[in-house]
Amino acid sequence: MLKQAMLYTALGFLVLAEPAIAQESATTLANTVCSSCHGPQGVSVSPIFPRLAGQNASYLEAQLKAFHNQSRTDPDAQAYMWGMAAQLDNSTINSLAKYYASLPPAPGTPMPMEEVSGGEQIFHDGVAAANVPACAACHGVHAQGVGSFPRLAGQQSEYIIRQLMAFKSGDRSNPVMQKVAQGLNTHEMRELAAYLHSLS
Ligand code: HEC
Ligand code: HEC
Repeated sequence: MLKQAMLYTALGFLVLAEPAIAQESATTLANTVCSSCHGPQGVSVSPIFPRLAGQNASYLEAQLKAFHNQSRTDPDAQAYMWGMAAQLDNSTINSLAKYYASLPPAPGTPMPMEEVSGGEQIFHDGVAAANVPACAACHGVHAQGVGSFPRLAGQQSEYIIRQLMAFKSGDRSNPVMQKVAQGLNTHEMRELAAYLHSLS
């Protein structure tokens, strides 16, 4: 209830805002509403909420639009983000994306060595026998991402595993990633997530 009241207050403020202060209003919205799950400064602490700090603006914008038009359909997207994004207009989405992209990304977290080295190998070489391409080819050698290819470095590991499973089952649709995830088993997903969470 409280969160919802805060959302409506913050959104009411946005509707009244002049374009010139739209960026400032989006920052207020981020810090009063989005921060309760995505963390202050876009660095979530809970492993189920993705980190947004330092993510590419164009990727963030595309995801917020996909929640808004309900084309990102995995269960957690529906449960958490459809309602949030329903209220956002294009210019607010644009400002929120710019704000989060401008924040410094979270530093990596040490993870079990065995998992990290397994994940590192798949990330850079793929899994030839299962037709899995090298992740680095699109997400960048440091998993820093570019444009519509999201940054993965420092991302929450449970979130990464959940997304790979959602691509594999088709709950989250994206032709490229659905094909990639098809060839990964749960163990490989866990290794990849550990490696990526450990990166700065
Ligand atoms: C109640 C918790 C909650 C709140 C509040 C919330 N989110 Fe989210 N958000 C989530 C969850 C959970 C996910 C992951 C959904 C999934 O698994 O598909 C998510 C996903 C996202 C993503 C996709 C990240 C990625 O890497 O693909 C973006 C962008 C996002 N949220 C932005 C926002 C913004 C902006 C706000 C404020 C207007 C906000 N969220 C408020 C819970 C929340
Ligand atoms: C041919 C390019 C390509 C390759 C190779 C690729 N990806 Fe992706 N990946 C993408 C694109 C594009 C997206 C964004 C999908 C969307 O917009 O929904 C994405 C999204 C993701 C996401 C969701 C991120 C988030 O914040 O929600 C994860 C996790 C991911 N990829 C992991 C991997 C892993 C692990 C590999 C290697 C096994 C890999 N990807 C290989 C293009 C690629």
